[in-house]
Amino acid sequence: MAVFLPAGVLLLSVLGLAACAQGRPNPLSRDGHWPITSPAHTEHHVKDIDTSAIYHQHVQRASQRYSTMLGSSVEKRFNQAVIENAVSHLQETQANASAPVNLLILDESDNPNPKGSGFSPIGLEIALVQPVIRAEQPRHPNSIGLDIQANDIGCENSLTSSLATNLHATDIATVQIGTPPKNFSLFVDSGSSDLWVGHEECKGYDVGDCGAHTFLGNSSTTFNNTGHPWHIRYGAGFVLGKIVTDLVSIAGLQLKAPHKFGVAMEESPEFASSKIPYDGFLGTAKSHLSQQHAPTLIEALRNEGLVKEGIVSYHIPRALDTMKAGAPVKNVGELTLGAMNPAKYNASTLVTVPNVSPTGFWEAPVDEVRVNGTSIGLARRSAILDTGSTLLVAPKEDVSAIHMLIPGSLYTGTRWIIPCTTNATISLVISGQEFPIDSRDLLFLPLNMGRLKGYCWSTISEMRGVSKPKGTNISKTGGKTTSWLVGDVFLKNVYFSTNLDRDTISVARLAEQPELAASEATELEDKTAD
Ligand SMILES: *[C@@H]1O[C@H](CO)[C@@H](O)[C@H](O)[C@H]1NC(C)=O
Ligand SMILES: *[C@@H]1O[C@H](CO)[C@@H](O)[C@H](O)[C@H]1NC(C)=O
Ligand SMILES: *[C@@H]1O[C@H](CO)[C@@H](O)[C@H](O)[C@H]1NC(C)=O
Ligand SMILES: *[C@@H]1O[C@H](CO)[C@@H](O)[C@H](O)[C@H]1NC(C)=O
Ligand SMILES: *[C@@H]1O[C@H](CO)[C@@H](O)[C@H](O)[C@H]1NC(C)=O
Ligand SMILES: *[C@@H]1O[C@H](CO)[C@@H](O)[C@H](O)[C@H]1NC(C)=O
Ligand SMILES: *[C@@H]1O[C@H](CO)[C@@H](O)[C@H](O)[C@H]1NC(C)=O
Ligand SMILES: *[C@@H]1O[C@H](CO)[C@@H](O)[C@H](O)[C@H]1NC(C)=O
Repeated sequence: MAVFLPAGVLLLSVLGLAACAQGRPNPLSRDGHWPITSPAHTEHHVKDIDTSAIYHQHVQRASQRYSTMLGSSVEKRFNQAVIENAVSHLQETQANASAPVNLLILDESDNPNPKGSGFSPIGLEIALVQPVIRAEQPRHPNSIGLDIQANDIGCENSLTSSLATNLHATDIATVQIGTPPKNFSLFVDSGSSDLWVGHEECKGYDVGDCGAHTFLGNSSTTFNNTGHPWHIRYGAGFVLGKIVTDLVSIAGLQLKAPHKFGVAMEESPEFASSKIPYDGFLGTAKSHLSQQHAPTLIEALRNEGLVKEGIVSYHIPRALDTMKAGAPVKNVGELTLGAMNPAKYNASTLVTVPNVSPTGFWEAPVDEVRVNGTSIGLARRSAILDTGSTLLVAPKEDVSAIHMLIPGSLYTGTRWIIPCTTNATISLVISGQEFPIDSRDLLFLPLNMGRLKGYCWSTISEMRGVSKPKGTNISKTGGKTTSWLVGDVFLKNVYFSTNLDRDTISVARLAEQPELAASEATELEDKTAD
C-alpha cells in the first residue's frame, strides 16, 4: 500500500491526528498494515505543529530522569507534597513549552550540506501516526520480540489538550501474569528496577480510571496482595500502589514461586492514559534500585535456575528500519534472557566492560568520543545505558564540544539544532571499539515540519531546567559530571547485554540486516522526497 503522497506531509498530519485522537494507538497487525485506509482531505497544516514545544518537553523529562539518576537515585520519602510538586512541575513545563522560538526562518538555503537526504518522510509519517509496530516472535531460545511505538514524538493535540502525552521511548515486551495467565505489555526500562502493572481497581491520579489497559487483581486466582504500600516516580509520572505476589512467566520461562512485584492503585496521566501502549513496567536495572525491595524478574529467573546467568540482552529496534516503501517490513527488536543471541551482532566488535554505576544502573565507561572518526577529546566519560530514554543527555560543555564539529549546527541559547541533512558520524569508543551513531538518529524532528532538509532539533541535548542534584555520588573529573544519560539515540545502533553475576556490560555492533540494505533505504527516500 502506498502511503506516500506527492505533496508530502500535509495529508500525513490528517492521518496522524486521526490516529492520535482515538485513544489507544493503532497497532500494526502482524501481517502488517498501516491503520490507515483512506486519507480524509481535511484542512490541517503539519507546518503549524510546534515541534519546539515537543522537543522542549522531551528535554525536560530526560533531564529530570538524568538528574534523578545522578542524585541519590532512590527516594526515601514519597508523600502528597512530592506528588503535587511533580504535577505542578509538569504543568509549568507545559506552560514554558509554548514559549515561541523564532527559528522557523531557517531553511534549506542555510544548509551546509544540501545534498544530504534530510529528515526521512517515512520518519515523519511514523512520528505523526505513532503506530505500535509489533515485533516478530524470535526463534532464538529465551527470547521475545520488542514492539515499539514509533518515533515516540507525541501527538500535537494531546500536547496542548492534556498532560497525557506519551513521551517515552517505548520498547515493549509481553509478559504473562496471573492464573489464568493474561498478557501484559510492559515497557522495558533498563533505567529502573521495578516490575508493575495496574490493579483492576486502579484510578487515575486526577480523575477517571487507568485507561484501556490490561489489569491484575482478584480475577487471578493466584493473586496475593501483601497490603504493603509501594510507589515509584520516573523522570515523568508516578504510580502508587501495593506490593503483591503472583505467578509470572516471560519468554516461556515460568517462575515456580510467586513473584513479588507491584500493582498500581493510582497512576499519573503519563501511564493512565489510554494512549499509552503499555500496561506497566519491566525494570531491568539492578535490584539495588528496587522500590519494592525485591529481586527483579531476571534475578528471580536466575535464582530458580531457569537461566544460568543473570543476563539480559537487547536489540532495540529502529522504527525507520521497520518500514520499506511505506509498508511495514520487519521489526527485528528482541530481548533475550540468560544469554546473548550471536545472530544479532558482529562478534569481532564485541567488547565487555565493568559496570561502573555505584547505584545500580548499567553504566559503561566510554574512552572517548569521535566525530567522523577523529577524537574530539572527551575522554573518560561514562554512559548510563537507558532504554527508558529517547535522547542522549550530557553536561552543557560536552554537548557543545560535539556540536561544534557538526557543520551548520547552531546553539539557540538553550538547545542545539543541526542541519537535517547532516551526515556527520558521532561515535562512542568503548573498550577501544568504535560504535557509531547513525546520522539519522541525530535528528529529533525538523523545526519546521514542512522543511525536511532544513534544520532539526538534535537528539543530543544538554541537561536543562532541573536543579543540580544534591548529595550525589556521581563519577566526576575535576568537579565535573562525567556520566551521560544515553538513551535509544545510541542504543538502536548496537546490540548490548548486561550481566548481573559478573556486573559487566557487553556491547557489539549489530549484524548486518539483509532485509534492509542501506542503498535500498536511500533509494526509497530519494524517490519519495520529490
Ligand atoms: C519556566 O519558566 C520560568 C520563567 O522563565 C522559570 O522560572 C521556570 O523555572 C521554568 N520552569 C521549568 C519547569 O522549566
Ligand atoms: C557526506 O556527504 C557528502 C555529500 O554531501 C559526501 O561528500 C561526504 O563524503 C559524506 N561524508 C560522510 C562522512 O559520509
Ligand atoms: C498472549 O500472546 C500470545 C502471543 O504473543 C498469544 O499466542 C496468546 O494467545 C496470548 N494469550 C492470551 C491469554 O491472550
Ligand atoms: C480480593 O480478595 C481478597 C482475599 O479474598 C479480599 O480480602 C478482598 O476484599 C478482595 N478484593 C476485592 C476488591 O474483591
Ligand atoms: C499470601 O502471602 C502471604 C505472605 O506473603 C502468605 O502468608 C499467604 O499464605 C499468601 N496467601 C495465599 C492465598 O497464597
Ligand atoms: C564485523 O566487523 C568488522 C570490523 O568492523 C568488519 O571488518 C567485518 O566485515 C564485520 N563482519 C560482518 C560479517 O559484518
Ligand atoms: C564530518 O563529516 C561531514 C560529512 O562529510 C563533514 O561535513 C564534516 O565537516 C566532518 N566533520 C569533521 C569534524 O571532520
Ligand atoms: C556515596 O558512596 C559512598 C561509598 O560508595 C556511600 O558510603 C555513600 O552512602 C554514598 N552516598 C550517597 C548519597 O549515595
